[in-house]
Amino acid sequence: MQRTVDSHHHFRFDSVVDFEEIGTDRTSESAHAIYAALVAQWQPAMLETASSLGLFGALRAGPLRAEEIAAVTGTNTRAVKVLLDALVAYGWVTSIPDGENSRYSADPAVAASLSSDSIFSLTGKIGYNRGLSRSAWRTLDQSVRDGVRAADGIGNNEITAHAYEDLVTGINFWAPPIVDKLIDWTTRTGWRREQSRKFLDIGCGSGIYSQLLLRHFSRAVAVGLDVESIGRLAVGQSVELGVDDRFRLRTANFWRDDWGTGHDAVLFANIFHLVNPAGALELLDKARDAVADDGFVFIVDNIAVGGTESDSPQDRFAALFAVSMLVTGGGSTYTLADYDQWLSTTGLERVALIDAPMHRIVVARRTEEGHS
Ligand SMILES: C[S@@+](CC[C@H](N)C(=O)[O-])C[C@H]1O[C@@H](n2cnc3c(N)ncnc32)[C@H](O)[C@@H]1O
Repeated sequence: MQRTVDSHHHFRFDSVVDFEEIGTDRTSESAHAIYAALVAQWQPAMLETASSLGLFGALRAGPLRAEEIAAVTGTNTRAVKVLLDALVAYGWVTSIPDGENSRYSADPAVAASLSSDSIFSLTGKIGYNRGLSRSAWRTLDQSVRDGVRAADGIGNNEITAHAYEDLVTGINFWAPPIVDKLIDWTTRTGWRREQSRKFLDIGCGSGIYSQLLLRHFSRAVAVGLDVESIGRLAVGQSVELGVDDRFRLRTANFWRDDWGTGHDAVLFANIFHLVNPAGALELLDKARDAVADDGFVFIVDNIAVGGTESDSPQDRFAALFAVSMLVTGGGSTYTLADYDQWLSTTGLERVALIDAPMHRIVVARRTEEGHS
């Protein structure tokens, strides 16, 4: 199978710096590499603009000339051509020679991810970047100088519900390969598609994780727990995915409100990185009470393992993501050792660690002492 990432070139420093021409001067080589790193911010700006002006939406119709794209998107022909040529240099758009001019085309998978009408599109992430995230990154100096408020140096992140409205749909794309891993693992432990199951999706966001599980486990039901404004998105999406008869939203605050009991799966997707260590213990305490004796707690997050795994993509991404949590006001990424310690403090034990793209999944269950 040809991978999408192979069909664009992987954009790296040597995509724009011909290091062979520098010779042996290490300072000069570093300076060129640093310059290339510093202008890496051009790429998200261009992708965000091209997406929000509808360039990728237009290209879904097939290859177009710059003036046609300008006409469809209401943009300036010369300027849009400048932008498209840069997107060609990055590898997101292809230029097809066409007489004097050229036509531009985009891989359908790329165009769909950057247009707003697909469940797995990243346009929500773009909205989040352009709103909260962009201004937050400007405060990195201050965040590093001052740390964050909480006594242990890591606060609970308090991104507003409004900012989450963009973010939660913009990270749906993470779910399918992770849910495949969950299905694979649970199937190997003996779960069958047609068994009745009860799932609890804490901070469900769009509800994508439990909803994709419901599509596989045809007699399961799921409760998604989130705040009201986000919950509305989850209910709408459950209709789109055809599982609205088995997905129920519970509008609740996961700190304050009761979670119920006897769930076969308690799922935390992208929740633990939002909280501080004391918060993590609170969540796991509640998870232990909410999960059935023979059920599982699934923690999907950016988890660093360290040691021989330090150089893994998951560990590297966890290190970067921790800074993003720092600038947005709290939370962090945690190590497997942190999770193991929290689990053992709360009457739970880890039974599996599963690698997934940009994430890892910790699977835990009640210990004998933790049984109800
Ligand atoms: C990063 S999103 C993750 C959403 C989803 N689980 C996913 O992975 O796509 C975090 C979610 O937690 C919800 N959340 C944060 N604090 C909450 C609280 N105290 N009670 C209920 N939901 C909360 C947010 O509204 C948001 O939908």
